[in-house]
Amino acid sequence: MSRIRVAVLTVSDTASANSSADESGPAIREILGQSELFSCSDHLIVADDIQSIQNAVKDWSNRGVADWIITTGGTGFGVRDQTPEAISPLLEREAPGLVHLMLSASLKHTPLAALSRPVAGTIKRALVVTLPGSVKAVKENLDALLSAGAVSHAIELIR
Ligand code: MTE
Repeated sequence: MSRIRVAVLTVSDTASANSSADESGPAIREILGQSELFSCSDHLIVADDIQSIQNAVKDWSNRGVADWIITTGGTGFGVRDQTPEAISPLLEREAPGLVHLMLSASLKHTPLAALSRPVAGTIKRALVVTLPGSVKAVKENLDALLSAGAVSHAIELIR
């Protein structure tokens, strides 16, 4: 299998104003960079704004530059948190099993995982997954997705 091309979208008002405040985007890249299976094709930072989130994800999926689009941040209950609302209408096929996998694994770490509202699914030939914004949550969620082998198998099937 050729390398899985990953595009990372950090969603954060703070990090979009000051990129050095982005910790979760680099954490995703570092974790995936440890495996031969993945290559990071793109990384962008946008504000918690539905249009900006959708523009980035639509651009990547329309151009077919990523097999796996990962967003980080904006999944909670804060008034500006609207990543799920941005991604949901773009999904052609939803993947509730991946959401279940992330939440069930996360709840073993902290009950506060219940405060994340992740969505997952496919857009064209890309798998899209929304992760929370903290580095701890990113690590725990990626661990769940990668250790189950679920992501690589899903991508084998859609590309
Ligand atoms: N999931 C895991 N695995 N570990 C965590 O520490 N933190 C939670 C939750 N999901 C957490 C987690 C918290 S405290 C919040 S507020 C929500 O993710 C939403 O985060 P976000 O708004 O940064 O996306």
